Amino acid sequence: MKICCIGAGYVGGPTMAMIAKQCPDIPVHVVDLNQARIDAWNSDNLPIYEPGLDEVVKEARGRNLTFSTNVDEAIAEADMIFISVNTPTKTFGIGAGRAANLEFIEKCARQIAKVSKGHKIVVEKSTLPVRTAEAVKRILSSSGNGATFDVLSNPEFLAEGTAVEDLLDPDRVLIGGESPESIKALCDVYAHWIDRDRILTTNLWSSELSKLTANAFLAQRVSSINAISALCEATGADVDEVARAIGTDSRIGPKFLKASIGFGGSCFQKDILNLVYLCEHFGLREVAAYWEQVVIMNDHQKQRFSERIVKTLFNTVSDKKIAVWGFAFKKDTNDTRESAAIYVCRDLLRERARLTIYDPQVPEKSIRAELTAACSDMQGQISENDKRLIEQNVTVVSDCYEASKDAHAIAVLTEWDEFKELDFDRIFQAMQQPAFVFDGRNLLDHQKLSKVGFELHAIGKCR
Ligand code: UDX
Ligand code: ADP
Repeated sequence: MKICCIGAGYVGGPTMAMIAKQCPDIPVHVVDLNQARIDAWNSDNLPIYEPGLDEVVKEARGRNLTFSTNVDEAIAEADMIFISVNTPTKTFGIGAGRAANLEFIEKCARQIAKVSKGHKIVVEKSTLPVRTAEAVKRILSSSGNGATFDVLSNPEFLAEGTAVEDLLDPDRVLIGGESPESIKALCDVYAHWIDRDRILTTNLWSSELSKLTANAFLAQRVSSINAISALCEATGADVDEVARAIGTDSRIGPKFLKASIGFGGSCFQKDILNLVYLCEHFGLREVAAYWEQVVIMNDHQKQRFSERIVKTLFNTVSDKKIAVWGFAFKKDTNDTRESAAIYVCRDLLRERARLTIYDPQVPEKSIRAELTAACSDMQGQISENDKRLIEQNVTVVSDCYEASKDAHAIAVLTEWDEFKELDFDRIFQAMQQPAFVFDGRNLLDHQKLSKVGFELHAIGKCR
């Protein structure tokens, strides 16, 4: 058995590294068109920040784990090919803003069809609209060079920041397919380290739809608690107390009830919009509207937070320095895709605030690129005004102290652990007075900060 994976991103890279680590007998070749990304996978400076990943890669790389740009060669040699490429929301044409852009998936399928000989198992790892496997199968079957294919769906449930733990000890592995032999071949790979009873098998469409559904349910929980946070702020209830009280009901459970400035990441919004698009396609208007509300609520939560900052700072942040702590969409990742911080920063910038941004893992280049994209229209056009604001009103700094010096307010946008351990007396002394903290993650010790002298504003808590 030889494995190839097309796409060395946040999913393909860690997943293949774990398979290679746990299956020393299986050669795993990860390929990508992006030479810089492959070079980084082959270096000591991996392209993604993920706790514990360096050790996993180091153990397997050079033994049975290879990273290269030799896409054709890797496909030709493999028995099993994972497709793990990006499927972003379409920004153009039919379904723009909702449907998944399947261009990269289709290109992979055509490449596999062109290069393959003999029999191959093609595994969809990327999250896809339900029934994509049908299109993949049709493209593969038109190869014309005698090759035969089985298509499996094997969605990945890892969460960024905990990818290594999630891959090592997953709640379940899901495999959807038609051919028992191919399903067994993939089960055998995972069975190297995962109990067979945690490997679920379904038909192709159930597997594809389960991934979208899991993400929709998770995002819905975050939007639900965030909706309640608005009511808490209005009534004097405390959202963390409400979350604890409802989370002890075993039917509800305690996870994913942390109120925040809104969910981000490459999956939740994209997958819900995808679900909405699918429902509309099948004429299920009420079902589409139900799920769309999860995204609408999330947008509202981000907007509510930036508006609260402006209102509290005496209705103007123009020319005021605001320290932004954290830009990644959650802690323990350098990923900024759909991070709530992007939209909060954009809204504050458009109010002419001066932002000093610090994130432990996100480079300045990514911060500027995300802000530029968020200020651009679907065609990628940005106004001169927004461009100037990003150039002149954004400074990226290397720690929280520097960010907060002379600032009117601190906005905590990512829940990095290091933010809890700072010298808040020192930070308070260096700030403009009154010194405000807007804790968008309910991360800090609010009592302690109030004692220091800060005016605290948190999610789902009254002042
Ligand atoms: C998610 C799914 O969890 C994972 O199974 C799937 O494979 C990919 O999408 P990910 O986006 O990496 O993973 O991170 P996740 O931990 O789910 O967080 C998503 C967003 O929700 C983050 O912005 C996070 O800050 C936010 N969140 C999560 C909350 O605001 N509150 C919570 O209680 C949980
Ligand atoms: P994800 O979070 O789903 O892993 P990423 O964007 O991090 O998404 O990674 C997807 C990777 O797939 C990118 O590095 C991109 O260069 C790669 N990719 C896209 N299309 C192809 C293709 N046809 N052949 C090889 N690699 C591809």
